[in-house]
Amino acid sequence: MSTQTRKEEHIHINVHEKVTSALPSGFEQLHFVHQALPEIDAKEIDTSVTFLNQKLKIPLLISGMTGGTPKAQQINQRLAVVAQERGLAMGLGSMRVLHEKPETLASFAMRKTAPRLPLLLANLGTVQLNYGVCTEDCQRLVDSCEADALVLHLNPLQEMLQKEGDTNWAALLPKIERVVRCVQVPVFCKEVGYGFSKKVATHLAQVGVQGFDIAGAGGTSWSEVEAFRAPTDLHKRLAHSFIDWGIPTKQSLEMVQQALPTTQLIASGGIRSGIDAAKAFHLGAHLVGMAAPFLKAAVQSSKAIDDVVTLFEAQLRTTMFCTGSRTRDDLQKADVLNTKP
Ligand code: FNR
Repeated sequence: MSTQTRKEEHIHINVHEKVTSALPSGFEQLHFVHQALPEIDAKEIDTSVTFLNQKLKIPLLISGMTGGTPKAQQINQRLAVVAQERGLAMGLGSMRVLHEKPETLASFAMRKTAPRLPLLLANLGTVQLNYGVCTEDCQRLVDSCEADALVLHLNPLQEMLQKEGDTNWAALLPKIERVVRCVQVPVFCKEVGYGFSKKVATHLAQVGVQGFDIAGAGGTSWSEVEAFRAPTDLHKRLAHSFIDWGIPTKQSLEMVQQALPTTQLIASGGIRSGIDAAKAFHLGAHLVGMAAPFLKAAVQSSKAIDDVVTLFEAQLRTTMFCTGSRTRDDLQKADVLNTKP
């Protein structure tokens, strides 16, 4: 099956089927202490942040999802225009398809569509470093879309469940180190819905990875997505058995933040509101990311994407107001109740 056909199937399944993890993200365990006397003027609330030297009006990333087909191009272009207008960061989907088919560049080159996009993240599956992609290719992919950083995604469970999956994950760490040394933009690592352990994040940080996108469990489940693509009933049952796999986003964020307190962290995986985002900021995240809510909006219209951002921003601002937080950093000091273990 071609990479492009797989991309089309992933979009279709994520839009039309229920593919949510059986695990909650963990943020439901955390509650802010409501401040009946916030002592701030709502007009003073500032949601802006600086991330990778770029100013974002809202601390939100449209997580990398797609590229490589006409449908993906339309989705990315709609997302890029809203990201530019609202001052968000945007991630591209895996650029393996661009490596294989350079003629798909227009579906990734979002600075052509949105030249004032504040932050654009290139994306590639780490395992491709074991399947012929070299450091020069990584730089070429970054340059081709004028990206501000390269995100290497780690998706071992998904690859293992795919009939056509790439399952040689041996000795990747030295190759990641080479990419970090040679590529001229910061390199981040990202999961796709199962989170990072303290051990893995520490090993990656030791070879120079500058930041992490947690992408923990609690949102989109790639084992569920692959169950819909399974070629046999046995494959389907295998995929379904991983419905509650992974490290919930909150727990993974806490582990990685405590192990690497100065590293740039994006919290994603089941972030579904500005309230979840505020909780992630309380735990030390610098940015949050959402994928599925943006995909569902992007297949409808630009207005639907804008509405997702408007609701998120209002939820975040209201949470900041009711916790007496003027800035994202103030949320770190906000009082919380831990209602569940
Ligand atoms: C993704 N995701 C993803 N991640 C990545 O690093 N490279 C990719 O190419 C893709 N492709 C992709 C396609 C589609 C259709 C979706 C919905 C998602 C994973 C995504 O970035 C994110 O980590 C997870 O979806 C978890 O976030 P949500 O969906 O729970 O907000």
